[in-house]
Amino acid sequence: MARIKSVVLGALLPLTFALPHNTPEDLNMKRRYDGLNSAAERTQAVIDAFRVSWDGYYKYAFPNDELKPVTNSFSNSRNAWGASAVDALSTAIIMEQKDIVNTILDYIPTINYANTTTEVSLFETTIRYLGGMISGYDFLTGPLAKLADNKENVDALLKQSQNLANVLSYAFETPTGIPFNGLTLASRGVDGGPNGLATTGTLVLEWTRLADLSGNKTYADIVQKAESYLLHPQPPESEPWPGLVGMDIDVNTGKFLDARGGWVGGADSFYEYLIKMWVYDPNRFAEYKDRWIAAADSTIQHLTSHPKPRPELTFLAMYNGRSLSLVSQHLACFDGGNFILGGQVLGNQSYIDYGLKLVDGCHETYTQTATGIGPEIFGWDETKVPGGQENFFNKSGFYITNSGYQLRPEVVESFYYAYRVTGDSKYQDWAWEAFQDINATTRVGSGYSSIDNVNVVGGGRKTDFQESFWFAEVLKYSYLIHAPEAEWQVDKGGKNKWVFNTEAHPFKVSGGT
Ligand SMILES: *[C@@H]1O[C@H](CO)[C@@H](O)[C@H](O)[C@H]1NC(C)=O
Ligand SMILES: *[C@@H]1O[C@H](CO)[C@@H](O)[C@H](O)[C@H]1NC(C)=O
Ligand SMILES: *[C@@H]1O[C@H](CO)[C@@H](O)[C@H](O)[C@H]1NC(C)=O
Ligand SMILES: *[C@@H]1O[C@H](CO)[C@@H](O)[C@H](O)[C@H]1NC(C)=O
Ligand SMILES: *[C@@H]1O[C@H](CO)[C@@H](O)[C@H](O)[C@H]1NC(C)=O
Repeated sequence: MARIKSVVLGALLPLTFALPHNTPEDLNMKRRYDGLNSAAERTQAVIDAFRVSWDGYYKYAFPNDELKPVTNSFSNSRNAWGASAVDALSTAIIMEQKDIVNTILDYIPTINYANTTTEVSLFETTIRYLGGMISGYDFLTGPLAKLADNKENVDALLKQSQNLANVLSYAFETPTGIPFNGLTLASRGVDGGPNGLATTGTLVLEWTRLADLSGNKTYADIVQKAESYLLHPQPPESEPWPGLVGMDIDVNTGKFLDARGGWVGGADSFYEYLIKMWVYDPNRFAEYKDRWIAAADSTIQHLTSHPKPRPELTFLAMYNGRSLSLVSQHLACFDGGNFILGGQVLGNQSYIDYGLKLVDGCHETYTQTATGIGPEIFGWDETKVPGGQENFFNKSGFYITNSGYQLRPEVVESFYYAYRVTGDSKYQDWAWEAFQDINATTRVGSGYSSIDNVNVVGGGRKTDFQESFWFAEVLKYSYLIHAPEAEWQVDKGGKNKWVFNTEAHPFKVSGGT
């Protein structure tokens, strides 16, 4: 999932030099988990963590956006519409936490999406709020309808989705139809662009689903028009290899402004959605699938990289034109899962095998650190190893340039796809180990907190922020990988009845009713 696009190139400079810290005692401490826990015990432990996180949020933060668990206070980084509540809904539904489901359902009709004093990100609002409400609607008008006490609250999910989309839709009133991302609602103001690849290209699933559910085709028309510029990139030099494109787009001309990118924050979920749109509807979105195949093949051919000290590992490089930087991110670790999904739905084992190698690489970024959690940004360019990390690089195959962990999901997300498609319980064990390490390191005060150093025991400073995607994604994938078969689970045979948006909100596929 693409998060804040500012994490991208600027953040690739070394920020924190985490020193290697794996003493034998640390390793003993961190390998103490019991790999034999049953699936039922594991799912219950994840539900327990969900309830702790929710209770802290509800007590100290609701209906604000996020809990600050160290200080038992709150923050509003997502326009004060109750981001954690809306983002938690589909996870509470899947875990069948009926009391929490109904608390959130009672709240959502009261949100005034026209009212906010802070700048609105079209992208973040789409993936979290719109995605959360649409997913809730699909579940509660479908297989988990029994959880809702009040049918009017279920209808309100679709109404509020339309209210929100109607508030946001002026963003697309531009010379090209490519939206501005930064919106000032009170004055119908816009940020003036340019817009990013991920922020432009990660709207199409949510708005198309909303059009299909509501019957208002305008929602689909405007996002698909915007996406058309990404599918047919101009100028030609903004596509250094077939399917791999630049990162910034001029909203007024529809042209790309650069030729840099990768499967990293700011670009990432554009590629993710190309194949997911085809999963959503293979009739309408065949061209999207073709572009995913082009990007995937170019990635395999040109971005595949093996660190010198550990040549058995595979990471994906970033590019600027045709020159590569050997840098990647926690955010990029959704890539393995996305290759696996692509291989599964296209019936192509070579994409699955390649995705599994990427999963292995991201797993190493977890197992090599003192906490068992992977860093925000890492590199493997042997000419750029930060002082003090030579031994760590030699042993691990990567070095750390930003050592934070913000309760991100991408590594466990990829474990989830790897497990669903191979059936190999090794990936369940990896997810369980990661969950226990995250639980041991980030649990604090009234919930779970971001931390600033994954490579010291204890995680360094707790930076006092419980992201809404902790509810939507980390806890959902950590749960689903051990959970019983259900129609919303990713299907081993590639016949998916649901597709997950980039915030892990599952939508019914088109014609899947
Ligand atoms: C808008 O939101 C603010 C708080 O964010 C609240 O005080 C105010 O009453 C709201 N206005 C309306 C019209 O809902
Ligand atoms: C359909 O959606 C568009 C875009 O938000 C909106 O302007 C229009 O009013 C909607 N139409 C109806 C009938 O709700
Ligand atoms: C599967 O993908 C690989 C890699 O792009 C390609 O070479 C191969 O032709 C594909 N196989 C099928 C059956 O489509
Ligand atoms: C890396 O490890 C290898 C083998 O373990 C050793 O021979 C080499 O000296 C090490 N290099 C550095 C820079 O520590
Ligand atoms: C999670 O952390 C809590 C508090 O430290 C602990 O009681 C619980 O056993 C942990 N759960 C797992 C599955 O490790």
